[in-house]
Amino acid sequence: MGFTADTLDAETILITGGGGGLGRAMAIGFAAAGAKVAVVGRREDPLKETVALITEAGGTAAYSAGFDVRDPAAVEAGVTVIEDQLGPVTGLVNNAAGNFLACTEDISPNGFNAIVSIVLHGSFHCTSTLGKRWIERGHAGRVLSIVTTYAWTGSAFVVPSACAKAGVLAMTRSLAVEWAEYGIRLNAIAPGPFPTKGAFAKLMPPGMDEEAKAAIPLKRFGKPDELADLATYLMSDMAAYVTGEVVTIDGGEWLANGQEFGRFTKYPRDNVKAILKQIRGD
Ligand code: HXC
Repeated sequence: MGFTADTLDAETILITGGGGGLGRAMAIGFAAAGAKVAVVGRREDPLKETVALITEAGGTAAYSAGFDVRDPAAVEAGVTVIEDQLGPVTGLVNNAAGNFLACTEDISPNGFNAIVSIVLHGSFHCTSTLGKRWIERGHAGRVLSIVTTYAWTGSAFVVPSACAKAGVLAMTRSLAVEWAEYGIRLNAIAPGPFPTKGAFAKLMPPGMDEEAKAAIPLKRFGKPDELADLATYLMSDMAAYVTGEVVTIDGGEWLANGQEFGRFTKYPRDNVKAILKQIRGD
């Protein structure tokens, strides 16, 4: 919407977790705005599907599977696979995430680590791998990280994710200053609830979506295309003077409610635990 096929035509953008949800929506949006797009992730089939959707619409895309953001060697190897196919990557979107709803007293050290290693360590490994390449090449790259409004408010029941997303936001602001020397811009988007399969399966208790919608001042969830448009703007030269910023896209939710999942504290804790167990599928 509003962008043309030359908005991103100088860009080759790599999106982690590009096989579904918001990652796929951004990949399709960037391709429509003229970018070459690389979608990376662990599983091949969803990535292949994203690439097919883009190429069938006349765009250029490639994928690399087995791209585990937690593993710096896999990230390095995956970026090389992509650059062999598409040429130098010029922009990165840290979109891959993991999350679950849990009472914090029920989370093991490994559970905390599972989320932080995907979200925080993964975003660092990807940013560092591409940043080093860009600095060596003299390329003014751009990084966009998907965080959430509870990166600054914190949120009950998603403590590992809140810690990790706060870290990603701190990385964004820190490097916006440190790497401005190289012309590299880093920004973040903080989405409220967007109904994507991965996130809603983990984060929306059954039957609670109407309550969640009612708590949003604009009274609806976000549409993936709306987020893709914002991402296109931030990755484009239209945002050449924007760096170290986080743009919220949540229908006014956090201003009205603060912590995303804090509302669950009004229910008896045993009921909350029973619902979280059901979501987990135990
Ligand atoms: C407590 C849990 C748990 C739960 C897993 N664990 N689920 N603990 N409550 N619901 C614990 C396990 O017991 C284990 O610890 C550890 O976490 C690792 O679990 P695994 O299943 O072995 O890990 P893995 O296969 O790596 O799975 C990672 C995952 C999974 C994050 C747990 O959910 C995943 O792959 N998710 C990817 C998709 C996703 O989550 N997308 C949503 C992102 S949305 P022990 O000690 O038992 O070994 C998002 C948006 C937020 O982030 C913003 C909203 C507004």
